[in-house]
Amino acid sequence: MNRPTGYEPLYALKAVAPDVWIADGGWIRFYGVPFPTRMTVIRLAGGGLWLHSPIGNVDGLADAVAALGPVRHLVAPNWIHYAWVPEWQARFPQATTWGCPGAAERAASRGMHLALDHELGDAPPGAWAGEIDQRLARSGFHREAVFFHRASQTLVLTDLIMNFEPAKMPWWTRPLLRLGRACDPDGRMPRDIAMGFLPQAEHLRDVVEAMIGWDPARIVIAHGRCYDRDGTAELRRAFRSVM
Ligand SMILES: [Fe+2]
Repeated sequence: MNRPTGYEPLYALKAVAPDVWIADGGWIRFYGVPFPTRMTVIRLAGGGLWLHSPIGNVDGLADAVAALGPVRHLVAPNWIHYAWVPEWQARFPQATTWGCPGAAERAASRGMHLALDHELGDAPPGAWAGEIDQRLARSGFHREAVFFHRASQTLVLTDLIMNFEPAKMPWWTRPLLRLGRACDPDGRMPRDIAMGFLPQAEHLRDVVEAMIGWDPARIVIAHGRCYDRDGTAELRRAFRSVM
C-alpha cells in the first residue's frame, strides 16, 4: 500500500546511530490490519551490511543501501517477517540469507519459496559474533531472534515490542491496538504474542534479562515509534508483566 504511514520519507535511509540506519516502508496487512513496515541496516566493522527485516520497493532503496557498503547479510528475524527477502536476494545475490525458525515453513504454507542459507539460533553466528549479540525467543506461537549492536548500544526487535502511534493509524484499528497493548508510549509485547509465551514464561524472562543485561541505549522496532533513549528502562516497562 502506498498511502502515507506517518513515517515519511519512505524508502529512505535515516541514521539512528553510527553505522545504524532505518528505512520506513509502506503498509503490510496482517490478518486484515495494516502495519507500517521498517527495516534496519547495520554496517559491520569490516564494512559489510547486515539488513534486518528488509522492506519492499527494493528498486527505490537498493542504490542508497549499496552506497553504504556491500550487502552481506539478509535477515528474516522472525517467523512472519520475510515478505520481501526474495526481492533483496535477487538484487544482491552474493548476500547470505538468515531466517528465523518457522519462517520458511510459514512462507511455504502461503505458496512462497523462501530460500535460506542458514537458520538463526540462540547465539550469534561467527559472521557477526562479537559485534551483534543475539538470542532466540520462542513460544509455541511466536519465534523471534533479537539482536544487540554493541558499538551503538542499539537493540533491534521486530514484533516483541509494538508501539503504534494511534494518530498515524486508521481510526478503525485504534481500539484493536489498545486492546492489544501496542500503543505509544506504552508499547509492549502484543497480547496475542504474550499469551503464546505464557507456557514459556521462564524462557521469555531469560531472554528479557539478557536484553536488559545488554543495557541498550535505544530500541529499534519494526512497527511504530522507536525508543531512541533509555532503552533499558523501556525494556523494564515493556516487559513488566514477565519480570
Ligand atoms: Fe511484524
